Amino acid sequence: MTATDIDTVVRDLEVARARTLLLTDLDEPELLRQHDPLMSPLVWDLAHIGQQEDLWLLRGGQAGRCGILPPDVEQLYDAFTHPRAVRARLPLLPPVEARRYVAQVRARVLDRVADADAFEVAMVVSHEQQHGETMLQALQLRSGPALLGTGAPLPAGRPGVAGTRVLVPGGPFELGVDGTTEPFSLDNERPAHTVDVPPFWIGRVPVTVAEFAGFVADGGYARPELWTTRGWQVRTDMDLEHPMTWHGDGTRTRFGVREQVPGDEPVQHVTWFEADAYARWAGARLPTEVEWEKAAAWDPATSRRRRYPWGSADPTPELANLGGTALRPAPVGGYPAGASAYGVEQLMGDVWEWTSSDFTAWPGFTPMLYADYSAPFFGGDYKVLRGGAWSVDASVLRPSFRNWDHPQRRQVFSGLRLAWDV
Ligand SMILES: [Fe+2]
Repeated sequence: MTATDIDTVVRDLEVARARTLLLTDLDEPELLRQHDPLMSPLVWDLAHIGQQEDLWLLRGGQAGRCGILPPDVEQLYDAFTHPRAVRARLPLLPPVEARRYVAQVRARVLDRVADADAFEVAMVVSHEQQHGETMLQALQLRSGPALLGTGAPLPAGRPGVAGTRVLVPGGPFELGVDGTTEPFSLDNERPAHTVDVPPFWIGRVPVTVAEFAGFVADGGYARPELWTTRGWQVRTDMDLEHPMTWHGDGTRTRFGVREQVPGDEPVQHVTWFEADAYARWAGARLPTEVEWEKAAAWDPATSRRRRYPWGSADPTPELANLGGTALRPAPVGGYPAGASAYGVEQLMGDVWEWTSSDFTAWPGFTPMLYADYSAPFFGGDYKVLRGGAWSVDASVLRPSFRNWDHPQRRQVFSGLRLAWDV
């Protein structure tokens, strides 16, 4: 690694760790508590972050080699062995020991960081930041008095943008990225390849709370014809009547704070099935992830990809709502400077956007060092989400970044954007 690379990855490691420690700076009972069967107790996330860093950066991914923890303790943090619902019952390291362990791993990593592989460090940073987001999901599901406050200020919205759309003309574009242009991209984003996309319309901004409330008020949750067969079954089984966190009286509980749901905020905490039913009600559909990426990254004037929707500048608070401090999406229209070449706004940050696409490999896919990151999930019961929510750190996000989850999940900071055939 060059000296600049080392400075970058050390800074990214430190930023990720500061967030982890902030989110776990809670009393012991809060850290040990399981807030929801879908989520781990926070103390599991904490030690698992250290365990993965130990495995990938101190042992080159060789699980057979002994790490800092004895094998019988280390295996408690194997995500594939222990499902989230049972993790609170495992003999986990107490918080004080978990903190000591992650610090010990980090000190050894920093000692030898000059010899480390930059991609491997970036992969570990991405992992830690993804757990930061998972911990925010757990804290959103937690009941009890607020622990995180109401969040950092956000820009005001812009009237008149909700419900508007832009045309993306048909034609080929370059989907995905390569290690040469995006050295820290993960395996499922690669390789770059040309795809021809028919013309389509796409929402200028994500669907808002006010728009989604129109679907609720119009009986959207009581009309099976708006839902797929499976979606209606899930709606019935989960007794869905409105997005998660809403109370049905125009208020919601957000990180323990009861408040009015702001009408101009992108709707979040909906399942894929709710997003799909809303789109049908609105006379639209969800975009494919390929359409989404073209609208976000392609610049038709230069026939090249942009690094970010707005260009090559790194994300700033004026361009996108990222980093997790806002604790909510920004009102639509808040980031005109963050628009893509086609004029599509708020693609990065705010809410993860459900797409109509199943999670599959791009042609020519090659697994990375952490071979189980993507491959075991291809072809499973997953839908792709794009764009990254307010909860995602800017250092780990790109327009090519692909997230995936089961279509019935809504603890994710998930919303939607509409698309239409031309
Ligand atoms: Fe993990």
